[in-house]
Amino acid sequence: MVEIEVVMGDITRENVDAIVTAANESLLGGGGVDGAVHRAAGPRLAQAGGAIGPCEPGNAMATPAFDLDPPVRHIIHAVGPVWEGGGHGEADVLASCYRRSLQVADELGVRSIAFPAIATGVYGYPADQAARIAVATIKSTPTSVHRVRLVAFDEDTRQHLQAAMAATA
Ligand code: APR
Repeated sequence: MVEIEVVMGDITRENVDAIVTAANESLLGGGGVDGAVHRAAGPRLAQAGGAIGPCEPGNAMATPAFDLDPPVRHIIHAVGPVWEGGGHGEADVLASCYRRSLQVADELGVRSIAFPAIATGVYGYPADQAARIAVATIKSTPTSVHRVRLVAFDEDTRQHLQAAMAATA
């Protein structure tokens, strides 16, 4: 059974086997958490991302972690849905980001992984709905990952993630 923790912090400081970044389809980097991850991992990350991209929304693809400090070995690039009001399959695409990230983690033998609140920033996904999807999908996806850390960058997101955990305890 996977252990899920909700924490506040900067995902580039996480002490896990793999961190997930909320990428765009090019995998060349951007702002938000993707910008922070690319700054921390160095310029080789954009080169590696460009070599394997594009990545369609709902999918996840892995690269090495380059200049990130150990034990982080992999960066898993997940492309979330742009929020268009909820009637365009956004929930399914967001759930797929978490499911595919865990599948990619399993392929890499990852035992601990950190997720940001995918799609809730630039892409505009309501944080409360996204938190419920994240927790429900992680809890319902068979995986050999032992430890999942949901990293909130602000108190509002942390509260939504905690509420989603409590609602499914
Ligand atoms: N650590 C953890 N979480 C972070 C960090 C960080 N260092 N920086 C930002 N976040 C949080 C944001 O506060 C938000 O809750 O990550 C969440 C996702 O927001 P975005 O990074 O804007 O990602 P998203 O909404 O999925 O938009 C993706 O933005 O940066 C571009 O290239 C990216 O085009 C893509 C789009």
